[in-house]
Amino acid sequence: MTDHARPPLSVLFVCLGNICRSPMVEGAFRAAAENAGIEARVDSVGTAAYHIGEPPDSRAIATAMAHGVDIAALRGRQLQPQDFYEFTHIFALDTANLAGVKAQEPRDASANVSLLMDAVEGRSGEPVPDPYYGDESDFQAVWAEIQTAVAALVKAFEESGAEARF
Ligand code: 4NP
Repeated sequence: MTDHARPPLSVLFVCLGNICRSPMVEGAFRAAAENAGIEARVDSVGTAAYHIGEPPDSRAIATAMAHGVDIAALRGRQLQPQDFYEFTHIFALDTANLAGVKAQEPRDASANVSLLMDAVEGRSGEPVPDPYYGDESDFQAVWAEIQTAVAALVKAFEESGAEARF
């Protein structure tokens, strides 16, 4: 195993562009973890390079803000090999994103890689659909799905900490 410093729990969310879904779940999970007293490094990335350095989509910022979560300062970043050693958990938002993550996964990677909705009982294998070409209602639907997943993650990490597996 590569010897990178690793905090007890570190969670990375991955979508395609890192401007819609993954910044929303990054903000939602960070807020929920703080509320629950869970210490974690939290970040998000895209599998694609389209939006490196950009803030989240204005609709994602507005949706999160409507729920008291400010994600305006986040900036787009692309998944890199080191992420597989630095994070204990990597959650892909949809199956294409999961395939993109798996395609880059180093042989000796230590992170637990899964689909986000795998954390939710009865929802395993389900995607959080891409809202980029949708409208405001699609962003609200994403937020609702994210809340369900975040609640399940908080419960699992409260129970098992960084040993939680998905
Ligand atoms: P995200 O949404 O993966 O949830 O950030 C998208 C953002 C940008 C693009 C596609 C999806 N794009 O094609 O630029």
